[in-house]
Amino acid sequence: MPCSCQARVPACPAGSASCPAGAGIPGFYSEMMMSGSSPQPIHRCWLHTIILHQYLRLTISDLMLSSKRNMFSKIFLSAISLLLANLQRFLCSLMQFVPGLRNSLPNPSKEQITFRSPRGLQCISPLMQTVEETPQPIPAKIKGHIPKWINGNLLRNGPGKFEFGEEKFNHWFDGMALLHQFQLENGTVTYRSKFLQSSSYLTNSQHNRIVASEFGTLAMPDPCKSVFERFMSRFEMPQPSDNASVNYVVYKGDYYVSNETIFMYKVDPETLETKEKVDWSKFVAVNGATAHPHYEPDGTTYNMGNSYGKHGMSENYIIFIEQPIKLNLLQIITSKLCGKSIFEGISWEPQYNTCFHVVNKHTGEVLPGQWYSKPFATFHQINAFEDCGCVVLDLCCQDDGTTLTAYKLQNLRRSGEGLDQVYDSVSRSFPRRFVLPLNVNSDTPVGMNLNPLPYTLARAVKDADGKVWCTHENLYPEGFEKVGGLEFPQINYSQYNGRRYRYFYGCGFGHLVGDSLIKVDVETKNFKIWQEDGSFPSEPVFVPVPNATAEDSGVILSVVVSPTENQSAFLLVLDAETFRELGRAEVAVQMPYGFHGIFTSH
Ligand SMILES: [Fe+2]
Repeated sequence: MPCSCQARVPACPAGSASCPAGAGIPGFYSEMMMSGSSPQPIHRCWLHTIILHQYLRLTISDLMLSSKRNMFSKIFLSAISLLLANLQRFLCSLMQFVPGLRNSLPNPSKEQITFRSPRGLQCISPLMQTVEETPQPIPAKIKGHIPKWINGNLLRNGPGKFEFGEEKFNHWFDGMALLHQFQLENGTVTYRSKFLQSSSYLTNSQHNRIVASEFGTLAMPDPCKSVFERFMSRFEMPQPSDNASVNYVVYKGDYYVSNETIFMYKVDPETLETKEKVDWSKFVAVNGATAHPHYEPDGTTYNMGNSYGKHGMSENYIIFIEQPIKLNLLQIITSKLCGKSIFEGISWEPQYNTCFHVVNKHTGEVLPGQWYSKPFATFHQINAFEDCGCVVLDLCCQDDGTTLTAYKLQNLRRSGEGLDQVYDSVSRSFPRRFVLPLNVNSDTPVGMNLNPLPYTLARAVKDADGKVWCTHENLYPEGFEKVGGLEFPQINYSQYNGRRYRYFYGCGFGHLVGDSLIKVDVETKNFKIWQEDGSFPSEPVFVPVPNATAEDSGVILSVVVSPTENQSAFLLVLDAETFRELGRAEVAVQMPYGFHGIFTSH
């Protein structure tokens, strides 16, 4: 693609001598995964947070791989560091009340978007309740028309069982994975669903209680054990969950379901049967892989270990976003002892900025530049591409990283004012564009905007300390706040991932789950919206028309569910260009709101 800038800036060619290695994160590439023919990094979502990559890796090696003596001294040091961090937070809170000192606080968020949120939100509790599986395919009732050229399976993943016996899960992410399949063939649609036969699901079912701890739920000791055994079980290390409820991923043509731990399961995309369990850690030195890998046209897959949140991938670079969300491993390792879940070891640390790490995809080298922005949290990247020696990175961003707390089941199941309050507590997610100039060196002038691209207002300014401070451009027009922000972004992935593009699609969040579908034109900032009262659409999946030439020539598939009794769930098919409904396939089955999915052509 030709360079778009007026004043040409020399590009930083991937793999060239001008991209010196080794000055970034030590050992970074060692945690990238391999699959297919090329070296492949990895990424991770967790509906979906970030853990400081460096922090996690150091803590793991510090706490687990050292000698015992070293280990105790490191734990002691970690405890001191934790204490100091808490003290710092406490002092910062106190300073808020001291006139004149408030402005000296480190990097507060200065561009918080505020708007009046809707009152009287509809109760969505039925969308977070246990449902029965539908193992045999049932025909859907078609309204309108489903184009005959769409042949394949829309596969979706998400939680579908929230308790065993008397014991209930605490967090939305803890629900047992229910695999859904909408099979489209020659204008007809069938639906089926099956629970993933994970160890967590099978063991919990067998005991009729929660035996395996999940992200937000700590399994209680077996009451049948002796008092001594129950006491000793508190000193056991928490085991990673194999409840792969977040997404489908494809490796070498095989289908797997994944969450954010070291485990994933191979599944049959036609029957939804659970096949073998895969332990990432037996193949690569990671303690987790994301549920959002990136794919090359040749099938090469890139994913990331040890960090939550979707990474960006342009033609030559992987962009890791280090968000100020911290996974406190000491707290997690001692979680059983303290009677806390893993979730409670995650904290938002807005006293730190967000920083971007750029890695050469072909060599694994970390570029030496340091790009920063005000603190934000991101779960999902929209797209990334290169232009004029810069990486343009589009992300869904929140100014506050405490969202996960709101998504406890007790919050999602509220009604009335209580539900409105939970919604108000969640920072809205908005699409933003960052520009990272790659060829910054000691000769680069300080204080100048280094973004040469005429089509974006994003700024990148080198500070006196050599770091580049990045200010985003909003990828939406005024008034967009009314839709409640946007999440679950998707693009015409097969044709435009890593390339300059024009359209993305997502869910509007006028509620705690998506309540509209939105198409955004990043050039004009105009957007189109699909919405129906009482309906909650899932992540929109773009399926291109065969031999399409236009970027938005295709359809959007979304599963729409409703908390209203006797209102059927349906697969919605929109014309991606006009965003008008072509048809829907209704299924009289209760379906919970899910996370992610993919379309696989026959
Ligand atoms: Fe995600």
